[in-house]
Amino acid sequence: MKKQLLEALEWRYAAKRMKGKALPEDVLKRILEAIRLSPSSMGFAPYTILVVRDKSTRERILPHAFNQPQVVESGCLLVFATWTSFKEDQVEQYMQQISETRNVERTSLNGFAANILKKIKESSPEELREWAEKQAYIALGFGLTAAAVERIDATPMEGFIPKGVNDVLELEKKNLHATCLLALGYRDDQNDFLSSAKKVRRPHTELFIEI
Ligand SMILES: Cc1cc2nc3c(=O)[nH]c(=O)nc-3n(C[C@H](O)[C@H](O)[C@H](O)COP(=O)(O)O)c2cc1C
Repeated sequence: MKKQLLEALEWRYAAKRMKGKALPEDVLKRILEAIRLSPSSMGFAPYTILVVRDKSTRERILPHAFNQPQVVESGCLLVFATWTSFKEDQVEQYMQQISETRNVERTSLNGFAANILKKIKESSPEELREWAEKQAYIALGFGLTAAAVERIDATPMEGFIPKGVNDVLELEKKNLHATCLLALGYRDDQNDFLSSAKKVRRPHTELFIEI
């Protein structure tokens, strides 16, 4: 692993206060691209990410996120919204994309499509919700890492009431459910005592079991 990545991960922390400054578009684009490149179970990526730059929308989200300042002090708020309905045509669309991108016959993907459909059919709504959420959290992690590499502060957040965020963004009618947030912006050193706090992590010997 390149040393620069570890330096970036040591630099990052979950900022509680930010400066309200927008991110340069090219930087935001690279962070979003890293998120797009996240792996997911069977590559299905059952989530959609809302990129909320609009301040007035973030102000409406604020009370549903326990008034955590990062929601409005960030430059941009990402809302990772998991799919709440799984239909055959979503699987078909994915198969078509693979077929076109890799120039392979659609029929050669029949077994793969059947596997995904089986997973969907044989899982309860609760299991599908959990499955989708796990994928969204991996994307969240990629966003956090990419932001650190870009020296953009990023706060992962699950301290919010999903129903409230769903209502503000009208997610339910799009068959989406707010799962986690990522506030992107610039730390406010003056007002955030955590900006100079040392990292607290369990030591290597406790976290890992070597076999
Ligand atoms: C899934 C998840 C949800 C979190 N939710 C919040 C949150 O709602 N508000 C917040 O300020 N920090 C939140 N955090 C940040 C954690 O508190 C923070 O990552 C942890 O204390 C380790 O500190 P560090 O990230 O600053 O190194 C969350 C982190 C994760 C991974």
